[in-house]
Amino acid sequence: MTDTGVELIDRAAAAARLPEFDGLLQMALIAQGRARAPYSNFHVGAAVLGGSGAAFPGCNVESASYGATICAERSAVVGAVAAGETAIRVCVVVTPTVDPSSPCGICRQLLAEFGPDVLVFAASSVSDAVYVAALGDLLPLSFGPQNLDGVGPKAVSE
Ligand code: THU
Repeated sequence: MTDTGVELIDRAAAAARLPEFDGLLQMALIAQGRARAPYSNFHVGAAVLGGSGAAFPGCNVESASYGATICAERSAVVGAVAAGETAIRVCVVVTPTVDPSSPCGICRQLLAEFGPDVLVFAASSVSDAVYVAALGDLLPLSFGPQNLDGVGPKAVSE
């Protein structure tokens, strides 16, 4: 454990920590193989575990209008919500870097919608390394639904 709350472990340690890890990792690896990344050639897969216990895959889908690209993590969240999930417990993301790449800022922000306890595993498709951290450690003092309480338009109730 570092003072950032981020730990570098391996796949076996991740599976020991979370029984669903292996299944989520396999789902994310399959999704990585389906990534559409003709511009960056950086193929990313993800899998999220919903509150119901069901898992949902995601991959990055790039656009010739680069800003329209969606990351793997957000595509997994979108799939989970579209399927009826209202909570996200875990996000596993797989990148083709020996040192696993962790979710970008926009993905952290969307995951923050589901609370600081979302557990994030950043794994590699080319090494055994895995970073694990709570979302709250990856995005401390985040802007969230609580900031809109009593100020902005009422948040849509679930
Ligand atoms: N990408 C993800 O899918 N997730 C991240 O957290 C970071 C980046 C994608 C977006 C783009 O298609 C490619 O990786 C290179 O940035």
